[in-house]
Amino acid sequence: MRFTIATVATALIGAVAVLAAPTSKYTGCSLSNVKVQPEAFVDPTNSSNTLPYPAANEKLVKIVLGYGSQNYSCVNGVATPNGAVATLYDLSCAFAVSPEWADVVTRGAVQMDPTAQLAGLQMLKNMFNAQFIAGVHYFKGDFTTPAFEFTDKTKFIGGVAGKIPALPGSDAGKRPDNFGAVPSLKLAPKQGMGSSYSTIYRLHTAGGSAPPSKCSWQGQRQIPYAAQYWVYKST
Ligand SMILES: *[C@@H]1O[C@H](CO)[C@@H](O)[C@H](O)[C@H]1NC(C)=O
Ligand SMILES: *[C@@H]1O[C@H](CO)[C@@H](O)[C@H](O)[C@H]1NC(C)=O
Repeated sequence: MRFTIATVATALIGAVAVLAAPTSKYTGCSLSNVKVQPEAFVDPTNSSNTLPYPAANEKLVKIVLGYGSQNYSCVNGVATPNGAVATLYDLSCAFAVSPEWADVVTRGAVQMDPTAQLAGLQMLKNMFNAQFIAGVHYFKGDFTTPAFEFTDKTKFIGGVAGKIPALPGSDAGKRPDNFGAVPSLKLAPKQGMGSSYSTIYRLHTAGGSAPPSKCSWQGQRQIPYAAQYWVYKST
């Protein structure tokens, strides 16, 4: 969906209403009313190219916001993916407000200063006594094996099983590293690695793409990104 002043206003009003309710929850909200957003599964440049949908027996069990950086090294003038690292935050209660609000939060995350983000999180934690951190995302062994470790001791170790460009109108990233949003992905578990989940989608991405021109930096360059990770479990 497009990010307009009207959607932000609607989302903010919804958020205030939910947060002001006497039974407000900040983490661990039910996802039973959250629906797959079909536009997030379609390649914006080619409508016959899609990410495979979750299977009928897969249940949506978590939605987390990943905020961190995509790393690139410069190999012969070409920016080459070199892993990523992100902290995962419980986004379920943002969806309880509205999917639009969850999108606002995702876009907001990539624009934040990392130190301000930590301070902001600590403040939220103190105010609401809620544990927003839900886990970590990193790469295991090589840069084709994304891994997720959740605070509830579950994990997912997988590989890319589908890829389409980011949603149209996605946030290009935090200046001066606003080179575009990383693709949407379907991740499938690698066999024998003890994954607790059957599929993870990376959707509603913001930032994280490499600079488009020939690179000349030494070592690694970290480009801030944020994304929603939708976690499914076979039933
Ligand atoms: C669009 O996607 C379909 C399915 O992946 C593919 O077969 C087709 O070649 C693509 N068309 C173009 C113009 O890239
Ligand atoms: C990303 O780059 C930073 C800075 O060079 C480095 O500390 C970190 O280990 C890198 N992470 C990965 C996953 O390669």
